[in-house]
Amino acid sequence: MSHVMEDTFEVRMGGERLTRGEVAALEGWLDGLPAVAATVDEDAAARGRDVFERAECGSCHAGALGTQRASVIMPEAGHLQVPLLVGVGVRGPFLHDGCAATLDEALLGCGGRGPHPGVEGLDEGERADLVAFLAGWD
Ligand code: HEC
Repeated sequence: MSHVMEDTFEVRMGGERLTRGEVAALEGWLDGLPAVAATVDEDAAARGRDVFERAECGSCHAGALGTQRASVIMPEAGHLQVPLLVGVGVRGPFLHDGCAATLDEALLGCGGRGPHPGVEGLDEGERADLVAFLAGWD
């Protein structure tokens, strides 16, 4: 937490250095926040898991967290880090510039970008199942 506060808050955002006590207080407060869970249709989510595998989403969004902790080159957007998919259902807006209000919009692409990798060729029903699967990722 102290590294996050130093690198993000102080170095990148130009904030003032927090005391150790302030960092500890912030950490305690964050840890105490209740986890938010999305409600999903379990059948749709199970079908969506198959779509996720067929569309090879896991080539970038790998493992339990749905990331590879690396940057990839995205058409129209350049180098971007692969975001975690854990908790994605409850943290919109989506994509680096927040242009997608919903998961479906993120998959279809917005802000002048084309469809997300692997999405072209999926029909509306498959996308809806994929969204149900993503929404339940915790
Ligand atoms: C080539 C690597 C790659 C593949 C393949 C890929 N993604 Fe992504 N994904 C990314 C990157 C990079 C971003 C961040 C894009 C941005 O912020 O504009 C992203 C963003 C997302 C987001 C938005 C997350 C957020 O917090 O804003 C979702 C949802 C998502 N991907 C789901 C999928 C699904 C589902 C598939 C398969 C159909 C898939 N991705 C395939 C690299 C990939």
